[in-house]
Amino acid sequence: MRTSLLAFATVALAARPFLNEPDTGIEDVLGSTPNGVLPALESIVGLPDFEWAARHKMNTSAYTYYRNGAAGEWSYRNNLEVFQRFRLRPRVMVDITKIESTLPTTILGHNFSAPFFISPCARAGYAHEGGEENLVKGAAAGNILYMASLYSSKTMDEITAAKGNNSAQVLFQQVYLTDNDTETQALFSRIEKAGSKAIVMTVDSAADGNRHRAARYGVGSADSSYSYLTWDYYHKLSKMTSLPIIPKGIQTVEDARLAVQNGVKAIMLSNHGGRQLDTTPSSLEVALEIHNRDPDIFKQVEVYADGGVRYGADVLKLLSLGVRAVGVGRPFMFSNVFGAEGVEKAVKILKHEVAIDAANLGVADLKKIGPNYVDWRSTNAWFS
Ligand SMILES: Cc1cc2nc3c(=O)[nH]c(=O)nc-3n(C[C@H](O)[C@H](O)[C@H](O)COP(=O)(O)O)c2cc1C
Repeated sequence: MRTSLLAFATVALAARPFLNEPDTGIEDVLGSTPNGVLPALESIVGLPDFEWAARHKMNTSAYTYYRNGAAGEWSYRNNLEVFQRFRLRPRVMVDITKIESTLPTTILGHNFSAPFFISPCARAGYAHEGGEENLVKGAAAGNILYMASLYSSKTMDEITAAKGNNSAQVLFQQVYLTDNDTETQALFSRIEKAGSKAIVMTVDSAADGNRHRAARYGVGSADSSYSYLTWDYYHKLSKMTSLPIIPKGIQTVEDARLAVQNGVKAIMLSNHGGRQLDTTPSSLEVALEIHNRDPDIFKQVEVYADGGVRYGADVLKLLSLGVRAVGVGRPFMFSNVFGAEGVEKAVKILKHEVAIDAANLGVADLKKIGPNYVDWRSTNAWFS
């Protein structure tokens, strides 16, 4: 009996499909859309739909640059799949009617309408000529945070100018650094002058990412040097700017603890969307590790997390562990094929999903969500 069960499990695993784009009927409804043509924005009902639209519209190499992950893409897949391995524990008979009013939050003291933000992603110009300007405008319309990438298609001045009359709009600036301190100082001064409120320092990319899919099209990693990234260096950098420097790419409780000990104000859990080192954990797994081994970290610093977030319920699982705000990368990049309106719609969709999913979960106040809303015993949903 045990042998036949094992044989069944092996066959089932072998047949188990990877659902990069889950089947929710989009092909049936929009499948006749010719390649190179966008469906109507009104036909987009969820974040994964933007990838479907972008795949039809963008040329293959540009689409591949956004889509790719490192090596066999196991981390990328895990980022997406991990959320459905943990079941929700909905509570009922709870007054959830005020849930929408509890979505607004602060990130490093700045006010936003929702606990999610646009993660820094290079080359928004591959999706739309407006590039990052559309992401700035979409973020402004939805009143969420946008973290601009250093390797943007638009210049820092153009990105700043996209704020238009809304000069109070808060942006954070992501950086990759060279070992040239003069260059770094100049970069930090430009960031301060542009009005960014924080520097997001990517620490998960000390070396080039091993990106097979992208390499086929010559659109591999943008950061191709070995980078000197240590806590000593972090302290040196901190003296070069008055802005907070947030390490992005923390993947263990040990490094989260070290970040706290080294005086950071915030950390970002991330494996770079599974694009850097394959078989690294998703940020949900890292958040769970911190929750199990050193939960005070969530009180000592602000903890952000990104990777694989596609639905409101994904956001809720991360928040339930103590994550303050959740980053979304590819879906916003894909939404940009529709320009700023697409980005704005993506914000609206996710905000709505966070609210209705929280309500159905029996959460009256998003600030009070806690780990008891999730069954943290990992299940393999394909068998249970
Ligand atoms: C096209 C693309 C470009 C990216 N560029 C950067 C970058 O310049 N700097 C950085 O720190 N992370 C970069 N990332 C990683 C994102 O900041 C983020 O961690 C990741 O996209 C989150 O996963 P998700 O795409 O599944 O939401 C990039 C991701 C994508 C998809």
